[in-house]
Amino acid sequence: MNFLIPESIANQLEITSSSAEETFAFGKSLSQTLSLGDVVCLHGDLGAGKTVCIKGVCAGLGVSEHVTSPTFTLINEYRGALPVYHFDFYRIADEHEVFELGLPEYLNGDGICLIEWPDRISPLLPGKRIEIRIAWDDSFDPSTRLITIYRTQ
Ligand SMILES: Nc1ncnc2c1ncn2[C@@H]1O[C@H](COP(=O)(O)OP(=O)(O)O)[C@@H](O)[C@H]1O
Ligand SMILES: [Mg+2]
Repeated sequence: MNFLIPESIANQLEITSSSAEETFAFGKSLSQTLSLGDVVCLHGDLGAGKTVCIKGVCAGLGVSEHVTSPTFTLINEYRGALPVYHFDFYRIADEHEVFELGLPEYLNGDGICLIEWPDRISPLLPGKRIEIRIAWDDSFDPSTRLITIYRTQ
């Protein structure tokens, strides 16, 4: 799969994934279009496939460490071709709970940020982001996901 990330929501790319493997492959392809400083926000309910997608991104970036949602630690740092910062804000109520994390250092820093549950900290997010939504519909096959992606600004 080869694609360029569209530059606006109006042109957002829609991809149907039929399996976890396809979502992983999407993440791997996505990794090839990322560059230093990119902030990738992944939206979707629990079990949508955000972490699966991030595993694909990390594989594409040559991360060899085990990738899991940092649900309790809020952040995992990996080393691949670039530093990768993986956030999961599921457990926090709002942005006030992350002030000690030094988030601006990461967001303006030297790597790629991959953020699960970005809505929890929306006031702290930069204007320039890559937005990914992973959705599913119970009336379809349980392994089918609709993935949309675009860049803001
Ligand atoms: N098309 C699909 N894409 C991603 N995950 C899928 C898909 N179909 C089934 N799954 C399963 O759904 C679960 C997604 O889990 P995970 O990535 O941890 O979700 P999230 O991080 O969004 O809470 C995994 O168990 C995965 O095997
Ligand atoms: Mg997750």
